[in-house]
Amino acid sequence: MTDKPLNHIGFIMDGNGRWAQRRGLTRSDGHKEGAKNLKRVLEACQKRGIHYMTLYAFSTENWHRPEPEVHLLMTLFRQYLAEAIKEFKPENDVQFRFIGDRKRFTKDIQERMATLEGLCSGKENYHLTVCLSYSGRDEIKRAVQKMMQDAIDGKIKPEDVTENTVSNYLDTAGLPDPDLIVRTSGEQRLSGFLLWQASYAEFYFPKVHWPEFSEADLDDAIEAYNTRDRRFGKVKVA
Ligand code: IPE
Ligand code: IPE
Ligand code: MG
Repeated sequence: MTDKPLNHIGFIMDGNGRWAQRRGLTRSDGHKEGAKNLKRVLEACQKRGIHYMTLYAFSTENWHRPEPEVHLLMTLFRQYLAEAIKEFKPENDVQFRFIGDRKRFTKDIQERMATLEGLCSGKENYHLTVCLSYSGRDEIKRAVQKMMQDAIDGKIKPEDVTENTVSNYLDTAGLPDPDLIVRTSGEQRLSGFLLWQASYAEFYFPKVHWPEFSEADLDDAIEAYNTRDRRFGKVKVA
């Protein structure tokens, strides 16, 4: 358990390529190792009583990487999804959700996402959200498109729009905002991760690359989070 409520943690899983390069391995090796580490980190979060986990796995900009790397990442997603479907156990009580512009993936990947989401529907204890072909700007753009269409269809009026309404049009509808966002590899930027939702998140930027982000690193992140003074714009009561 953590000292301060830490209900939702976000990970920007960065540094697979640099991790591999340092070892004289290929970027593909880095992505494979990163995928393995993902399972370890998720289990560690669950053990610490964190119920919402959101992972930045592939950004809309990542489509512009060289074709062989994009191809390899697609193969890994396929494998990861197939394994998750095969290893699915109802007692794990994890709800998977994939967010982003999933239309850009091949049909088989889209089908696997839907199958896994279907298997987990109604699960409530843990929520694992994976951002694929995602960027916050693209998410907001798609939300605006849906809202405008609903306005044309007479389902919503401009004066009815509140911050909650906007949240509910986003891919993350129903999820609490992240409390803590961890980006590995030392880069201190969001690269489009949860732009709207991160409004009051705390940030932690460890130097370690994602494939070697360990349980001890997670504990360091939580410890740092516990020292933060989350004022939410108010004045601290002494
Ligand atoms: C993160 O690692 C994985 C993805 C963005 C898909 P990178 O591939 O960005 O690794 P670096 O930043 O080049 O080291
Ligand atoms: C951000 O990492 C996206 C993911 C981790 C999926 P990038 O490596 O793509 O980000 P930049 O290019 O360094 O900003
Ligand atoms: Mg990177």
